[in-house]
Amino acid sequence: MQQVSVGLVGLGTVGAGVARILTQHADRIARRAGSRIDCKWAVVRDLNKKDRRAEFEGVRIVDDVRRVIDDPEVAIVVELIGGIDAARRIVLDALAAGKHVVTANKALLAEHGPEVFAAARAADRAVAFEASAGGGVPIVGAINVGLAANQVQSLAAILNGTCNYILTQMTQEGIAYDAALAGAQALGYAEADPTLDVDGTDTAHKLAILAQLAFRANVKTADIPREGIDRLDLADLKYARELGYTIKLLAHAKLAGGALELRVAPSLVRNDAPLAQVHGPYNAVRVVGDAVGDTFFHGRGAGMMPTASAVVADLIDVATGRALLTSRVLDFWSAASPAVPLLPS
Ligand code: NDP
Ligand code: HSE
Repeated sequence: MQQVSVGLVGLGTVGAGVARILTQHADRIARRAGSRIDCKWAVVRDLNKKDRRAEFEGVRIVDDVRRVIDDPEVAIVVELIGGIDAARRIVLDALAAGKHVVTANKALLAEHGPEVFAAARAADRAVAFEASAGGGVPIVGAINVGLAANQVQSLAAILNGTCNYILTQMTQEGIAYDAALAGAQALGYAEADPTLDVDGTDTAHKLAILAQLAFRANVKTADIPREGIDRLDLADLKYARELGYTIKLLAHAKLAGGALELRVAPSLVRNDAPLAQVHGPYNAVRVVGDAVGDTFFHGRGAGMMPTASAVVADLIDVATGRALLTSRVLDFWSAASPAVPLLPS
């Protein structure tokens, strides 16, 4: 069977999960990818942080990303370092070197999607990004493939596992905001800078990505009015509960009169509504399409193995060639995409 060599850039929460799936389930993945996916390299920032060699035997762990990008055997670079500047450089260099790219980096795509996908088109390489919105919930593929017959009319979603975990801990356990946030960080749900989670920016990044997929709207994060959960306290949640509501951080996108209305805000959700039943690090996305009607996707939105599940799905998609075909046909973030006007906020 043919072998596809992969370089993981980042071996933290998500990278370690990806390496685990690739090594522990190599035969299953090979059957689905049509080739053996070999994790040849892993790049980290600090080689002395902990001894990772024992767990990832056979993976060459280095701190110089050029070792991966300059290796002609590597077909796919998986960017899992987070942040924008270094990640952007790595992704552009990898594409220029003829590698396909898989990334979970919503901040990078939301801020530099047009540049990244222009580079991918110029190199005729795929950029796959299932883990960038919804974590383990396969919402990117669902909108691109499963709902492709529809014009999406609206989308309402819980897209940040950290915030949903914090709100659940506060509502159900009476735990204070700071302690709940510390819990989310310890469990590997939060961004390196958790301000991005709690102030609504991470949700806005994911909404910008889903708006591109669902509406072909080249939305900038700055265009999305947003408010986070950082100013809520236990009393707000308690009063909402007494009135029959749960507070959730929701992302909204809605076509109204040919224009797109977008926002991220803590919202009152009736206790009997499906979005109110989404607890802990779970995400959920309600998508309404003109043909299918109402759909609801639910699952773990953050954490090591759920996110790795989405990244490895992308690796399989790239290895089979499906991701490149999808990228060519769908022309993500293309300047040629008909822009949907945004409603003024
Ligand atoms: P972590 O902070 O756990 O891991 C980051 C990894 O990248 C570490 O191994 C770190 O090295 C390495 N790294 C950081 N900067 C560099 C650099 N400049 N060069 C080389 N290596 C570097 O992050 P996560 O795994 O949590 O997140 C990775 C990406 O996945 C982010 O874009 C995040 O937004 C996204 N994501 C995360 C989810 C989650 O639940 N955690 C869910 C969905 C998406 P070292 O270990 O030496 O510090
Ligand atoms: N920090 C993000 C969250 C990770 O909590 O949802 C998943 O994108």
